[in-house]
Amino acid sequence: MEGPFPANGRTDCHKNSEVILGIETSCDETAAAVCHRGVILASRVSSQEIHRQFGGVVPEAASREHERWLATIVRGTLEEAGVRPEALEAVAVTRGPGLVGTLLAGLSFARGFASGLGIPSLGINHIEAHIFSCFLGCPELRFPFLCLLVSGGHTQIWEVRELGRYHLLGETRDDAAGEAFDKGARVLGLDYPGGPAIEQAAGGGNPRAFHFPRAFEKNEELAFSFSGLKTALKIAVENMTVEELASRRSDLAASYQQAIAEVLVGKARQASERTGIGTLVIAGGVAANGVLRQAATDAFRSRTVLYPPLALCTDNAAMIAFLGEQYFRTNPSSASSLAVSPNLRLGE
Ligand code: KG4
Ligand code: ZN
Repeated sequence: MEGPFPANGRTDCHKNSEVILGIETSCDETAAAVCHRGVILASRVSSQEIHRQFGGVVPEAASREHERWLATIVRGTLEEAGVRPEALEAVAVTRGPGLVGTLLAGLSFARGFASGLGIPSLGINHIEAHIFSCFLGCPELRFPFLCLLVSGGHTQIWEVRELGRYHLLGETRDDAAGEAFDKGARVLGLDYPGGPAIEQAAGGGNPRAFHFPRAFEKNEELAFSFSGLKTALKIAVENMTVEELASRRSDLAASYQQAIAEVLVGKARQASERTGIGTLVIAGGVAANGVLRQAATDAFRSRTVLYPPLALCTDNAAMIAFLGEQYFRTNPSSASSLAVSPNLRLGE
């Protein structure tokens, strides 16, 4: 079956290797990957453990860790892929959105590495890469599709028309879904990152035990808000004794997780009805959540719902290398800016 990108099957490029290196350092994952004609040859992600003790990411520590480990991770990834640095055609690197210091660490490394090899660097939008990560596990995916992008910093619904053509249908007014998981976990005395911690704690819990607010649920607007939900959890916990909290933690976690999953899926369904687009992709770290996946699959029974492979939901460089390759083959000038952009939006 023909893929949606001209990259698949093309051979007319400067070097015969057709291999792109991707680098990702937008937050607390140091990652590198190697992509060849839309296929990932190797992908490594090192999650910085240093932040666990603080319950969140400490920007200065994150930048330092990237600087410390990037060369080792890139070398290991190239070795695993069986690719010599000289065989690379280009280096794709995240330029935003993200933390300014961590983005700078990745961009400086990528520019130095690429210029040493005499090859171009491509600046990639992290959000756009999350959207495209689904192609890596689902080659049957075709434009147009809807993308529910749910990460630590973003909760948005995009209409994805083709590479470089996107329309924002709705987004959160305050916290992102991942942020709601992280803040909720802190309230419940669970570890960072909060998403996996809440999902684990919710196992065996009753998702209907507590009724938490679902903002904009009955509203036509494609908008999200999670700050009220977090406050409701906080109030519920404050009204409990230590023993009560210990015995009801899994019910609280399950009910909180359910509220997040239901609003996300409800709005994705509204977006599908409004646009007439029947394919939904869920991407970003929160897409790893099993309850969200099940709720979306149930709600989209007569339509299609797709997710990236589990390992590619959270931050990784495979998605950066993959998107970098698409731009390198089709429109490299649109990825030529290497300016760090912590608040980069899609379409800028
Ligand atoms: O995409 P990502 O790795 O980084 C950003 O670009 O922000 O997303 C990280 C977010 C965190 O807030 C984390 O708690 C959440 O994704 N997350 C999850 C799960 N795994 C990661 N949320 C819910 N369930 C999970 N299993
Ligand atoms: Zn991300």
